[in-house]
Amino acid sequence: MRYIDIRSDTVTQPTQAMRDAMYRAEVGDDVYGEDPTVNKLEEMAAEIMGKEAALFVTSGTQGNQTAVLSHTNRGDEIILEETAHIFTHEVAGTAFLSGVQVKAVRGHNGIMQVEDIEKAIRPENIHYPKTALICLENTHNRAGGTVTPVEHMRDIYEMAHRHNIPVHLDGARIFNAAIYLGVPAKEIARYADSVQFCLSKGLCAPVGSLLVGSEDFIKKARKYRKMLGGGLRQSGFLAAAGIVALTEMVDRLAEDHENARVLAEGLANIKGIDINMETVQTNIIVFSIEGLGINGDRFASMLYDRGIKANGSPDYGMRFVTHKDVTREDIQTVLKAVQEISRELVGI
Ligand SMILES: Cc1ncc(COP(=O)(O)O)c(C=O)c1O
Repeated sequence: MRYIDIRSDTVTQPTQAMRDAMYRAEVGDDVYGEDPTVNKLEEMAAEIMGKEAALFVTSGTQGNQTAVLSHTNRGDEIILEETAHIFTHEVAGTAFLSGVQVKAVRGHNGIMQVEDIEKAIRPENIHYPKTALICLENTHNRAGGTVTPVEHMRDIYEMAHRHNIPVHLDGARIFNAAIYLGVPAKEIARYADSVQFCLSKGLCAPVGSLLVGSEDFIKKARKYRKMLGGGLRQSGFLAAAGIVALTEMVDRLAEDHENARVLAEGLANIKGIDINMETVQTNIIVFSIEGLGINGDRFASMLYDRGIKANGSPDYGMRFVTHKDVTREDIQTVLKAVQEISRELVGI
């Protein structure tokens, strides 16, 4: 039986073109810098993001953690939005690996105000740690795939640089943001000193992320990647799929956004579902099922019985994600299932 899988865009299957490219890939030992396919992917990534250099890493988490390691020293403090992936979903890697403390700032729809960030920066005082890094997330996962506008990124970046603090962007889904804003990704990346972006989410590659930044930063990051066990050898097999992801899979993300909108509009009309349409911008939909009187785990299991895989939760918050392997027809099937559950639980 085929399940409709709306748990995440990480579940996407690689395309036939990716499989063919992987089969044919020319490879070498990347730790010696001799894998031509990895080198090509890194050059492409640097060019697309308008940075001097790039590093192919195993995952978004490894890219973000390598960035934090490269920007900070033990005992520093870093500023993050309170629901940022780096803070909430990377196993406290910032504490464990970098030995830094997080100062969490509340955002609106995942976006921190410039003044709030500035207030969180530590002044010089013998009791205080040094504020060494500001991390942003665009699009913002937990907030529902919300997009930070370029002007706001610029304002944060300029303020950060007045304080001599670098900015790292968790751009796991930077191309979704770029499509929503109608700008090239490098326009967003411009207002960050380093950017991590994923190949293995909506872009459908099986593995990998890229970390981009200055030559000096990437040189440092390359050493930390080695320390973290990310120095792979004939990784051109993986990079080959990444090249296809960057050349063939970016523009189609618009389709995922349209599907997410159709799904969100349908959900908004179902009794017991509460959804803030302001946050429906890209391929992630967050909503509350409090009106259904069951928690997310129960709701997910009722969807599963109807052939749909969704991530549950112990409370009322739910998240659906659209991607290449979810068609418009699947969206209608999901809506029908949710409608059915709603009728069963709260009536017409
Ligand atoms: C915003 C964001 N950053 C980083 C990551 C981590 O990526 P990975 O799962 O490749 O480690 C994710 C994964 O979902 C994410 O949503």
